[in-house]
Amino acid sequence: MPEHIYIFDTTLRDGEQSPGATMNIQEKIRVARQLERMGVDIIEAGFPISSEGDYESVRAIAKAVENCTVAGLARANREDIDRAWDAVRPAKYPRIHTFIATSDIHMQYKLNMTREEVLRSIAEAVSYAKKMTDDVEFSAEDATRTDLNFLCEVVKTALDAGATTINIPDTVGYTVPTEYAEILETIRKKVKGVEKAVLSVHCHNDLGLATANSIMAIQHGARQVECTINGIGERAGNTAMEEVVMAIRTRADLFPYETGINTTLIYPTSRLVSQITGMKVQPNKAIVGANAFAHEAGIHQDGVLKEKRTYEIMTPESVGIPKSSLVMGKHSGRHAFRERLKALGFDLNTEQIQKAFELFKGLADKKKTVYDEDIVAIVMHEVLRIPYRYRLTYLNIVSGTSAIPTAVVTMEIDGEPVRDVDFGDGPVDAALKTIKKMTHSKSKLLRFAINAITGGTDAQGEVTVHVEEDGISALGQGAHTDIIVASAKAYINALNKLELQKTKKRESTMNQTARTP
Ligand code: KIV
Ligand code: ZN
Repeated sequence: MPEHIYIFDTTLRDGEQSPGATMNIQEKIRVARQLERMGVDIIEAGFPISSEGDYESVRAIAKAVENCTVAGLARANREDIDRAWDAVRPAKYPRIHTFIATSDIHMQYKLNMTREEVLRSIAEAVSYAKKMTDDVEFSAEDATRTDLNFLCEVVKTALDAGATTINIPDTVGYTVPTEYAEILETIRKKVKGVEKAVLSVHCHNDLGLATANSIMAIQHGARQVECTINGIGERAGNTAMEEVVMAIRTRADLFPYETGINTTLIYPTSRLVSQITGMKVQPNKAIVGANAFAHEAGIHQDGVLKEKRTYEIMTPESVGIPKSSLVMGKHSGRHAFRERLKALGFDLNTEQIQKAFELFKGLADKKKTVYDEDIVAIVMHEVLRIPYRYRLTYLNIVSGTSAIPTAVVTMEIDGEPVRDVDFGDGPVDAALKTIKKMTHSKSKLLRFAINAITGGTDAQGEVTVHVEEDGISALGQGAHTDIIVASAKAYINALNKLELQKTKKRESTMNQTARTP
């Protein structure tokens, strides 16, 4: 019987810490529901003390999710733990995840604490959390740069205080597989009673080793893997869930383990997270990249046509990539459309299906063939996106060889209609300038990129913009057959996200101030 590996998804906590990847509460609930559908064991929903928004979203997810454990992160102090517990307590299976740094460099420069003080904090924090729930996880931040003897003491202290999961994070993505193996083996050998807890790994990808380290850790006793969809996360990201899950499944000959993940939901979930966060998946990304199953070289194509297994170690269908990407045209009916939505992994309510269907029909009038990618863009950009403060309601552009590019824009700002006009160097510049003026945004545009979603001159353009203000950045996306409209939508999406980030930052500063004596 293969042993179960617990999948602990931290897309909504560590993943959301990626620059620009902020999600609003409805988007987080949507991702959480999708993770639940996939079969994730534990969802780390956020860091409740960090802001009012984080607290609210962890609480909402705790109420919305039924089949997963919902974890809230807390530093090793009572105030954080109280807040985390308050947020996760509505969950059917709540978990408090408390952590403190244990490496000398962190203790000296960040915490200004001695080893003894850190051990005392661990004992106090874990036993305090334990009064609230039996399910307490402890993480030794920067474990892989921690003195190994001290790390054993840390683990023993957390265990004695009642921790049921012990996480050994590679916080800065520094370790390598053989070293990780040694760390885990030492802990298992030296710390009595460690077998009663679940050992966990949490890797960052600074050296591109996150998946290899996680797999090695499993082979050396870890039974929980902390990971994110598409590997998003701080700096170079976290371990990609899809990579670990598919490695275990594809190499069942080597790994006598199983996860509860429905792998056919990997691709739709990857798209969902990418669209919501605005973080594009690199084309050559393992498992979920656009080229992950594309065979370009003639010799490979020939081999695959003769026998798929010559160059394919897993099938696209096994990760939920639709078999045929060609879908429908303007004569396709509502029933076929609803079925296609389901096949693409969308679970929409009647009102959302109706809206998507109307938009699909509108697109099919402009474009001969509507592809899966077009449907995904409609759902993600138009149906599931929740406008925050700004919404585009009208855009008219004048441009050409002898016209001064001019944009007339109507928007809803906080529910009120606002109209303005401005000029620019080109049509995109005119549209973005006008929107900037209307929203009084002080942000800087850092990046602007257009991609065709499918082939052909009638393809929808998908625009990604990256904006920044006072050190806060946000990514926005928009899609339309008219690239100026796509650009305006992407810009407004980015400005909405920036506003959300600013609110979060304000709340977090207020919380900090309130906690400073
Ligand atoms: O990377 C890390 O150490 C973390 C901990 C809070 C688990 O994210
Ligand atoms: Zn982390």
